Amino acid sequence: MKEKKFEFNYTVYDSIEELPAEQKKLLKEAREVTEHAYAPYSRFQVGAIAKLSSGEIVKGSNQENASFPVGLCAERVLLATVSSLFPKIPIQSIAISYKSEEQKSDHPISPCGICRQALQEYEGRIREPLQLILGGMEGPVYVIDSASKLLPLAFTSEELR
Ligand code: THU
Repeated sequence: MKEKKFEFNYTVYDSIEELPAEQKKLLKEAREVTEHAYAPYSRFQVGAIAKLSSGEIVKGSNQENASFPVGLCAERVLLATVSSLFPKIPIQSIAISYKSEEQKSDHPISPCGICRQALQEYEGRIREPLQLILGGMEGPVYVIDSASKLLPLAFTSEELR
């Protein structure tokens, strides 16, 4: 019998102002893209924006539905759009932000479990790490070097070979 431990490093910035210029720009754009969310039910608007290695910028936001399970998170809307428009081009970074009518947007949110699975598969498929930049409209910002770090012991495509 042996015990194993999982841990990972990530960077915490006190505010967007501390970020390197490129990451700062991306997080600002993620904040703006929250406006494109269709979230009349949760009133929790999420914006996600990807910078591809080719320099392209792609936007995603959460899209809800009166039939609640039909709704999609911003991250998966974004991944599907990137894969459709720019297949096989690695995503360098994704910035994610949010705003809510009910609460302050003063801390980072991190992707839900389903989105972690989707991000992990994207990273595995493209074979390049995908950086996450997570921050609210104000407050601290987290930078995580590889999305897969958020999903230890993942079920991956390797199992279906
Ligand atoms: N949501 C996202 O778009 N991304 C996340 O990482 C967490 C949650 C959306 C789903 C739903 O439309 C709303 O936020 C409230 O859960």
